[in-house]
Formats: sequence, structure tokens, C-alpha cells
Amino acid sequence: MSALKIAVLASGRGSNLQSMIDAIAEKEIDAQIVRVLSDKKDAYALQRAKNNAIPCDYLQPSGYANREAYDLALAAKIKESGAELVVLAGFMRILSPAFLNCFPNRVINIHPALLPAFPGLHAQKQAFDYGVKISGCTVHFVDAGMDTGKIIAQKAVPVLDTDTADRLADRILVAEHALYPEVIGLFAQQKIKIINDKVKIEY
Ligand code: GRF
Repeated sequence: MSALKIAVLASGRGSNLQSMIDAIAEKEIDAQIVRVLSDKKDAYALQRAKNNAIPCDYLQPSGYANREAYDLALAAKIKESGAELVVLAGFMRILSPAFLNCFPNRVINIHPALLPAFPGLHAQKQAFDYGVKISGCTVHFVDAGMDTGKIIAQKAVPVLDTDTADRLADRILVAEHALYPEVIGLFAQQKIKIINDKVKIEY
């Protein structure tokens, strides 16, 4: 089996992207990042791509007539790269059906809470403020909703009495950096299946 080709979409610091770069370098997973794309010119994720000789592009949203036109330009870049899986890693835009229809069941995201609890922005703070005792992170397929796609895998992180929202977020991020490469590795091994509308991992 050849390495799974992935495209990573990121808007910010790109620490999840880095966890993938590291897992690939350490040969923990059989994947290749063929393109990094960003909607933010100064996203540190782009710098991380450059540091690792990964082709990357910044696509400026204001340069397109509307959301669909932008999404189709993104999709064209991804198709051109030959990516087989689209990995959202802190990409701060909701993708339109026009985009998602190009990659059915091939777009995944990581969210810093145990979905379906606390979708949307600042999920770690939402969970902390609510007072949950366990939070964590979720890797899920992306659909047209906000963090509503089918759940692929989750990792729990206990909330400690000494936590602040920031401390909790830091520990959830550590969990993200373990979970996301692991899930990409399972895709590379073709172990992720959708059976009876639920995601199953075939071991
Ligand atoms: C992560 O917390 C991820 O769960 C969320 O956005 C953040 C991205 O962080 N979707 P980074 O850019 O990967 O460091």
C-alpha cells in the first residue's frame, strides 16, 4: 500500500499539522502531506509547511465572488495535489456543500470537546464553564453543519479541580496531537468504515 496522500487546511498556529508532520517523520503513520492550504496569509501553519518543504498555498477569501467560488478554488487545489483525504486542522471556515460534494466521506476535522457537547468556538472554555468533569477531543467527518458530522474517534481528558480553561485547553491539545495522527494512520490502513450509518474501526 502506498502512503495516504493528505491535504491539510489550517487557519492558525498549526500545532495539529505539526503533530502529523512529526508522526510521518517518525514513520508512525504511512501518510504524505501533499498540500497545506490556508485562508490566512500569516497562519503559522504555512510556515511549518515551508519549514518541511511541503507545498502550500494561501487563498485569499476576498479574492472570490462568494463562498462557493472560494470553496471550489480550494477544492481545485486539493484535487490538483492528488490528496485522498482532506484534514481540517484549525480551519476557521464552514465548508459549503459544493466543497464537501467533491470529497464524500473524505473530509475530517478535530474538535476540542467531546461532541455532540460544546460544538462551535471556544469549546474548551464552554466545557470548563459548564463544569463537566470529563472533556476531550473528537475527530469527525465533516458535513455541512457546525461540528455535526459522524464521530470517528474520541479521547477523554479529565477536568481537574486545579484547572483553568487555559490549562484544560493545553491538556486537550496534547490529546489532539495523539488522536489526530492515530486516526489518519487508521485511514492509511483503510480501517475506517461506515457501517449502518456509524463509523467502525476494523482491527
Ligand atoms: C485545535 O484546538 C483544534 O481542535 C481546533 O482548532 C485548534 C487548532 O489548533 N479545531 P492548531 O492550529 O492545530 O494548533
